[in-house]
Amino acid sequence: MTEEIRLSESAVKTLSKKSTITLIAGKARILSVQDPDFVRADIGELCAPGLFPPGYKESLRESADAVSIEGRIGYTVPDGDNKLKKLVFKHSIPDDLRALILERFQDEAGKQGIDFEKHKENNMQKHVAITHGGTGALGASVSMFLTDQKNLVVTNQRTWQNHNLIVDMHGGMIWPVPLIDEEGKVADPDSILKLCHPVKDQIAALLYTLINNPDGAVITDPAEQAKLETIIRELNVPLILDVAYHKLVFDGREAQPFSRDILHNTVVCGTYSKTLQIPGERLGYIACFDPRGARFVYFYNRSHSGCPSVTSQRGLIAHLTLYETAPDEIEAYKKKLLTEIETRRNILVEKVKEKLGWEMKHPGGAIYAIIPLSSDLIIKFGDVDTFTLDLVDKGGVSAISGTVFEFRARPTNGGYEVYTPDATSPEVRYLRFCFGFTPQDRVGLAVDHIKNFISSR
Ligand SMILES: Cc1ncc(COP(=O)(O)O)c(C=O)c1O
Repeated sequence: MTEEIRLSESAVKTLSKKSTITLIAGKARILSVQDPDFVRADIGELCAPGLFPPGYKESLRESADAVSIEGRIGYTVPDGDNKLKKLVFKHSIPDDLRALILERFQDEAGKQGIDFEKHKENNMQKHVAITHGGTGALGASVSMFLTDQKNLVVTNQRTWQNHNLIVDMHGGMIWPVPLIDEEGKVADPDSILKLCHPVKDQIAALLYTLINNPDGAVITDPAEQAKLETIIRELNVPLILDVAYHKLVFDGREAQPFSRDILHNTVVCGTYSKTLQIPGERLGYIACFDPRGARFVYFYNRSHSGCPSVTSQRGLIAHLTLYETAPDEIEAYKKKLLTEIETRRNILVEKVKEKLGWEMKHPGGAIYAIIPLSSDLIIKFGDVDTFTLDLVDKGGVSAISGTVFEFRARPTNGGYEVYTPDATSPEVRYLRFCFGFTPQDRVGLAVDHIKNFISSR
């Protein structure tokens, strides 16, 4: 007997995966404790002190008191508390999907000659399931559609790194295409369909992020939305819609709604990690016009994780209940939070221009911005990963290099594989700067640090 467990080939391959993001986060964690001036812009979290979701903390305290009296915390059903599902349906899921499901209820109530309100109250929870964060929602969604024959999930080629990991760990592969640029412009549908053509019978779903990580790209123009919908219709596959940054859209704009035919075949994956600053609570949801989509999560959660944390579910119930009992307080809170994040974005773009003389785009939403790096600068350091790691070690700022977010597909012997462009390639020559975690005054400090770091070379 050897002293090691015998792992499958795919498990060994998974273990060999390297990620600059974990390397940077590890260094940043240590350095930020040692140096109070160190600025963390790597971490994909929202931190806005004083703007914690109303009702949530109070519920945590109540739960702690109840536990100390009762001496236990029980389960909920695997796909979440019914009361929470109803609140999520009423207050969290995208408006276009809610409207379509309500129309369905109206229709059904009419046909059955029953009261609409009662029918709605009895059925809305069937279209929602509570998951372990957005990751749990995405995992359940991809496993709903992946089969041996259809094992590909089309994604934007610039996307959240874990989309690749989640699809991979569920036995599929992403099929990255240049779907949308950072300004929310969608590629010409023919060009995308051509790129999908060689594998079109293998495509299980299209995974699209409503507001993209890492560049904040969001479609606010109906003509761009029409192009995206043409692509989805032509591919004729379900849409997995990642709405992790739902409503975090700037400049008074909004993400475009989806057409009814697309929504009929969509699984919405939401999370409260970002919008409510509670990533550690692990709460997300799936919402679906077809109740089988939500029901699937019951089995997925049972087999992968069991029910989401009950203490967290209670906290979210308390918060979402305020949408009904204190709507003005909630509106004011949401507005303040959006203004805070938008202000940080504006400071970043302004300071980068003023202090570094670099032009960068205003991200349309979410909590990240792309800071392009010139080729001269990267040549000095060798590649973008070295630049980013040196910036953490010697520059006092942690941000993530473009290598983490760019995916491409290439043919191999008899198939295809996903790869990330080389760290010297122009496609990855950028930093993802997260302004969600960084208070307003420290955004400017980070830019000062970058400037000093570059001039000290
Ligand atoms: C685009 C996107 N989707 C989903 C998630 C999932 O978040 P969580 O699983 O922490 O709720 C993230 C987190 O960074 C994200 O950036």
